[in-house]
Amino acid sequence: MAHIVITSGPTRQYLDPVRYLTNASSGRMGASLVQAALDLGHQVTVVSGPVSVEYPQQAKVVWVTTTQEMLEATRIAFSTADGLIGSAAPCDYMPEHVQTSKLQKTGNDITIHLKETPDIVATLAASKLPKQWVVAFALETEDVRFRAIVKLSRKACDMIISNSAQAMNSQENNVEVILKGGTILDQLHGPKPLVAHGILRLIDKHLIAQHANT
Ligand code: C5P
Repeated sequence: MAHIVITSGPTRQYLDPVRYLTNASSGRMGASLVQAALDLGHQVTVVSGPVSVEYPQQAKVVWVTTTQEMLEATRIAFSTADGLIGSAAPCDYMPEHVQTSKLQKTGNDITIHLKETPDIVATLAASKLPKQWVVAFALETEDVRFRAIVKLSRKACDMIISNSAQAMNSQENNVEVILKGGTILDQLHGPKPLVAHGILRLIDKHLIAQHANT
């Protein structure tokens, strides 16, 4: 039995108290991964952005809003865990300044300066212990496999799940599972719960079993 932390859903970056940047992530892939991990007997902590999907009751859920909050909550959960699966779609940009009161329309266009948010999986993979493993997802529209392999190495992860943009806010997924070093382990397609079970079985075989004696 392993303790697995799973990030899930989108994050929000506020411009002012009522407006925010976000994306269409539903949290459905995250919820399917949580269920699959529980079904294989693992302990699960989910760190989730705002979603309407429900997580299984046996999982501990930590709710967050922003990417920075997701990083801090995941850092805490991962410090005592064996592995991390980054299935969230955190906002990559945040406004440099968040207005404390609602921006008023003046009839003129406005310019908002955005800066990059921290990368959760890359930050935590960079300081993981030898016994810990990190799995990332990659969603690309072109050069899908190549970009996933580049991302796997750049983020120093142990495995990457490459999927196409149709996965967003959909019931189905179509993924390629790639191990550190570039070995293509499998291609899985179908409803997200089925794909999630396939992914967890590969994580069990190639990461949990391998790290058990570290
Ligand atoms: O670089 P890109 O966003 O395509 O990478 C996707 C992977 O990185 C996913 O596993 C996602 O959960 C993770 N990620 C993250 N923190 C971010 C952006 C992405 O952990 N700020």
